[in-house]
Amino acid sequence: MTKKTWRIGVAGLGTVGGGLLEFLAQRPDFAPAGDRAVITAVSARNRTRQRPVDISSLTWFDDPVALANAPDIDIFVELVGGSDGPAKAAVEAALKSGKPVVTANKALIAVHGAELAALAEAAGVPLLFEAAVMGGTPAVKMLREAMVGDDVSALAGILNGTCNFILSEMESKGRAFADVLKDAQAMGYAEADPTTDVGGFDAAHKISILAALAFGCAPNFAAAEIEGIDGVEQLDIAMAKDLGYRIRLIASTERTDDGVAVRVHPSLVAFGHPLAETRGATNALFIEGARIGRIFLQGPGAGAGPTAAAVAADIADVMTHAKRPVFQAPAGQLPPFIAVAPTRRVGKAYLRLLVKDQPGVIAAVSETLAECGVSIDSFLQKPVEDVGGVPIVLTTHAVAESVLTDAIDRLERLPVVLERPKLLRIARI
Ligand code: HSE
Repeated sequence: MTKKTWRIGVAGLGTVGGGLLEFLAQRPDFAPAGDRAVITAVSARNRTRQRPVDISSLTWFDDPVALANAPDIDIFVELVGGSDGPAKAAVEAALKSGKPVVTANKALIAVHGAELAALAEAAGVPLLFEAAVMGGTPAVKMLREAMVGDDVSALAGILNGTCNFILSEMESKGRAFADVLKDAQAMGYAEADPTTDVGGFDAAHKISILAALAFGCAPNFAAAEIEGIDGVEQLDIAMAKDLGYRIRLIASTERTDDGVAVRVHPSLVAFGHPLAETRGATNALFIEGARIGRIFLQGPGAGAGPTAAAVAADIADVMTHAKRPVFQAPAGQLPPFIAVAPTRRVGKAYLRLLVKDQPGVIAAVSETLAECGVSIDSFLQKPVEDVGGVPIVLTTHAVAESVLTDAIDRLERLPVVLERPKLLRIARI
């Protein structure tokens, strides 16, 4: 039987695009269907840049939208990035012209997933995004396909390799934040604008997508509560370590009676916990289901080879005619995402205070916390070189976020407290 050749158009030839060029040049017949996948047309910002494969014989498009509209491609692969602009325009054009779309663009799916799903369904073509979350580690297919026989209640994980790399290096080598960030950029983990990584937005895009798949609702990035790692200091890393914790950027989501909560926070995770032991650029995810129980998934979340492998897996799905709604129901029937107010959160916390070194300070702090109804779990004062006061750290028992915020406001007003207390959450998983 003659093998069919699927003509792939790729927009965006950065790290992942380069990885895909290389893989399909070597293994055009990788898909289980037995057909071939061949890149025939490309679009990128720079035509002459050195690439792993010679692209001079491929059809070149300056404009990704023109590539998306080209009649002689069968699958459009979007690796441009960004929630709007050319990436969105090109994906819309491809879907409207009836082409299956494969994308690694988490921002696009997190922000516009529901409307793009509607376009894809109207055209009767797939819109696939395995590479958008955890790079080469198959979290999307896991939730979209393997977990549909269960009721997922919560997810929590490390979804940004750049942040995990930075936190790991800051802890193990005592290096400064900015210095380590440069290494992450050189290694190809970081986004074009690293604020997307260190500000927690990339992790929030990814957990918004996973929440939609886990709970069968439309993704709602706007409802995510987001805090990055740019405020994490060496002092917090050292204090947390003395208390038996590592700091990790934890992206989590859970379904409660009130709705769905999506959050990204630098959080304390106890030594020995698999998330605390996940180091470097590695990603990890806990999935909690009613019947399956707990699943732990760990693997590469970025990089050319792994992420291109995830794009290829989606290309194989198109070639094998795998059929599922983009999220867990047709776009028009997706229930709305009802966000839980951040103040409804209950959890344990870490508070770092800078206080005057004088008698009665600890009493004043603990009295204020007692008045607010915050119960202290552990307490640490560490002698440090003069930082204009004495840092003290305490951890609390589970407390409502609204109570905690009130306690922080009141602590800040104490004359012996020199700056607004710093809050980090203790991960619940
Ligand atoms: N900037 C991302 C990260 C790349 O560091 O994890 C993969 O999405």
